[in-house]
Amino acid sequence: MFHEYVSQDNIECEFLSILNKFKADVFDGTLSVTPDTDRELPADVPSYDYLTSEKHLRSVQETPHKSDFGDPIGKLDVITFAVSNWSSATADAYNPYSDRYHKEMASYLAEKKGRASIVISGSFLYHPICTMPWHTNESTYGDHAYLTYVDKSKKSYFRYYDNETKEVITSYDEPGWQIRYFNAPKTEPYFWHCTYTECPRISIGFRILYNL
Ligand SMILES: [Fe+2]
Repeated sequence: MFHEYVSQDNIECEFLSILNKFKADVFDGTLSVTPDTDRELPADVPSYDYLTSEKHLRSVQETPHKSDFGDPIGKLDVITFAVSNWSSATADAYNPYSDRYHKEMASYLAEKKGRASIVISGSFLYHPICTMPWHTNESTYGDHAYLTYVDKSKKSYFRYYDNETKEVITSYDEPGWQIRYFNAPKTEPYFWHCTYTECPRISIGFRILYNL
């Protein structure tokens, strides 16, 4: 498994109906997804999408790194992570759904991917405009599944570096839920990937641990 995209039409599971209530709270109701206009980019970063550009990937890949994100952008995760991480209000809204949803998702993934432990690995509410810069997930290596929701077509994406073809591939989001699977090795060549959005974007991550 390297990278796999599953559109909403091909997700046949009850957990979507559970999550749609949560999604409605985020997109239509009580939780704010307005842009944070007070943020400022550092002088050496021309734009948010520069952080997901091929040019920036090259510079990060060429520099020895100590963390998943690489040293050149270490200072940037303050402005990217901080605003994209779920606020406590979002987390509180999600909690009533999470137990049942997690159980459903675990059995869905086990059916698709085999017997495994399913662990929630990172949930984000991305505000427009927001990015998760190039990184490797080497510290949480292994198989991952990301469930993503947006309400706009091609205004957000998951982007990765294909180690076989040596190409940067952009996988755009489409309205509704979608799942992406990928494997992140612990060592080189790693699985370099990033995300960018110009619209509100819910992203719920899981690790698939084959430890049973
Ligand atoms: Fe990641």
